[in-house]
Amino acid sequence: MIQLKEIDKYIESRFQRVFILKGIHLTIKEGEFITLMGPSGAGKSTLLNILGLLDEDYEGEYFFGERNIRLMRDRDRSNLHKGEFGYIFQAYHLIDELTVYENIETPLLYRNVSSGERKSIIADLLDRFNMVAKKDLFPAQLSGGQQQLVGIARAIAGKPRVLLADEPTGNLHSAQAKEIMEIFKELHAEGTTIIQATHARENADFGTRLITLVDGRIETDEAIAS
Ligand SMILES: Nc1ncnc2c1ncn2[C@@H]1O[C@H](COP(=O)(O)OP(=O)(O)OP(=O)(O)O)[C@@H](O)[C@H]1O
Ligand SMILES: [Mg+2]
Repeated sequence: MIQLKEIDKYIESRFQRVFILKGIHLTIKEGEFITLMGPSGAGKSTLLNILGLLDEDYEGEYFFGERNIRLMRDRDRSNLHKGEFGYIFQAYHLIDELTVYENIETPLLYRNVSSGERKSIIADLLDRFNMVAKKDLFPAQLSGGQQQLVGIARAIAGKPRVLLADEPTGNLHSAQAKEIMEIFKELHAEGTTIIQATHARENADFGTRLITLVDGRIETDEAIAS
């Protein structure tokens, strides 16, 4: 489904080239549930941004199915991003001017989901995340963990084909974190491809494959026994 070939990403400083990702070669099949681990600064978020079509400043090739990302028109790339991906950000990236309800609704509006269906999907998610009473509040009125839950609800509301999750449970207590992983497991069982970056080893056990990044390179890549 996704193929990265020899991806390099670097920044030019005055005297040298500093690599953030180096020689990333990665094939992801539809339906995989991959966990990216590795020290802070290893390049996990950078790699997720590239996978999610949020960063185009790199060398090497990215194929999504048959499509070479670099050769796509901007509009097609944007449609691919909005139509196929759900993204849970390390820093939540909620829209400040929209309420909790409206934030969760955004991907559904893009996907032309009917208003009745939107209401029911959002009501389900609010209920599931214990946020019904917060639906008309704005992100600034929520705790960090609550903002993270809204970010998760928004990313999964539109049933994306590929879910990218950057430290999705970083601000949650362990029971909530486990609940989120159970939700990921369900989505995976329904066929969603998931790629998550995390520092929590126990989160990896919900997935099918563990990749560790160190200094911008893939150090290990192994299957997780279920
Ligand atoms: N726009 C940028 N300009 C310069 N350096 C950058 C930029 N973006 C990322 N970096 C650097 O690239 C490296 C990898 O960053 P990245 O955010 O991908 O790490 P990470 O593995 O997600 O770490 P963490 O576990 O802390 O989230 C870091 O050293 C970071 O400082
Ligand atoms: Mg990161």
